[in-house]
Amino acid sequence: MSSSPLQALPLDRLRQRSSAKWRTYGEDVLPLFVAETDFPLAPAIESALLEAVRLGDTGYTPPDAGLGRVYADFSERRFGWRPDPARIRSTCDVMMALVEVLRAVIRPGDRVVVTPPVYPPFFDGIPEAGGVVDAVPLRDTGSAWELDIEGIERAFAAGARAIVLCNPHNPTGTAHDRASLAALASAAARHGAVVISDEIHAPLADAESGFAPFLSVSDDAARVGFALVSASKAFNLAGLKCALMVAASEEKAAVLRALPDEVQWRTGHFGLLASLAAFAPESDAWLDALLAALRENRRLLGALLAEHVPLAGYREPDAGFLAWVDVSAYGWGENPAVLIRREARVALHHGPLFGAGGAGHVRVNIGTSPEILTDAIERIGVLAAR
Ligand SMILES: Cc1ncc(COP(=O)(O)O)c(C=O)c1O
Repeated sequence: MSSSPLQALPLDRLRQRSSAKWRTYGEDVLPLFVAETDFPLAPAIESALLEAVRLGDTGYTPPDAGLGRVYADFSERRFGWRPDPARIRSTCDVMMALVEVLRAVIRPGDRVVVTPPVYPPFFDGIPEAGGVVDAVPLRDTGSAWELDIEGIERAFAAGARAIVLCNPHNPTGTAHDRASLAALASAAARHGAVVISDEIHAPLADAESGFAPFLSVSDDAARVGFALVSASKAFNLAGLKCALMVAASEEKAAVLRALPDEVQWRTGHFGLLASLAAFAPESDAWLDALLAALRENRRLLGALLAEHVPLAGYREPDAGFLAWVDVSAYGWGENPAVLIRREARVALHHGPLFGAGGAGHVRVNIGTSPEILTDAIERIGVLAAR
């Protein structure tokens, strides 16, 4: 891929931001925790939002605002698979989509599989929808993480009604391969279970990542699955509130259509306008430049850890801007992010919040400049050298 890397903003500009990443800790802390990125907005998004502000276009999102079609085209261009826009609905964010879709497909008390270490809010969203979390950890092969298909099938056989898949996976950055996704779909089909595939990080997957949209991998996948997608991670739009729920069968599309109208009315209008611009072809070059920057940062993190924190365990993620790092060899306790923030003044996400496999780990947000990433790992290096 030939794009030159997108440049992240300098620290003094970023410190003027008022989002959670920049206002949770003091000015002496480098924030590499919450999943916001440090790049300038894609130009098409900036113009769309400026125009909306100029017009005072701050009302409700209309029922069919065209985002399903724009996303279908994006998915076809980027992943070679075109969902049917008639089977896509919008809502305000991926976590709300997860809760509402789950609520529609399970009964109170049903078990729902998650594959830790995994995005912490899944552990709250499942009970919010009435479900009970059933953890089937990822398998660590020594060189990669993979779904434990046999373990998941055992959970289905024992009564679990659904699984919340994370693909690409947060925090490991794993793009689950087609064969394991197809095996998961067959297992779900055999037991009448539903797969909800959280693909919020998918726009950050390039052709080499191995990412495949779950709904595209087999007929079973189309029958058993829903996908949840959003421009919010790749384009840093989380505060604007817009996500999509995608079905690939008539039966699952009917589930989405039967959700209360309010679920769709919660779509943020700025989120909708920004997402239309994000998924449009005119933002492809910006996205390719972002992907180039993230590829460099993944390699840079490996080099920095090898030099400054040599006992850290790190595998380059397949996709995304999150990296899962094992620092247990340093004896910094069950939750090393606490000591790292206190002593090194770097805020990382807390490994234990991700469930089984999280002790002794931290999640590092590499969606930033090489300068900030280097400063952060050098600071941790001082701690490691003590
Ligand atoms: C896997 C995953 N799902 C969902 C979310 C939250 O998305 P939203 O803000 O759209 O609810 C995140 C945020 O980082 C995430 O990483």
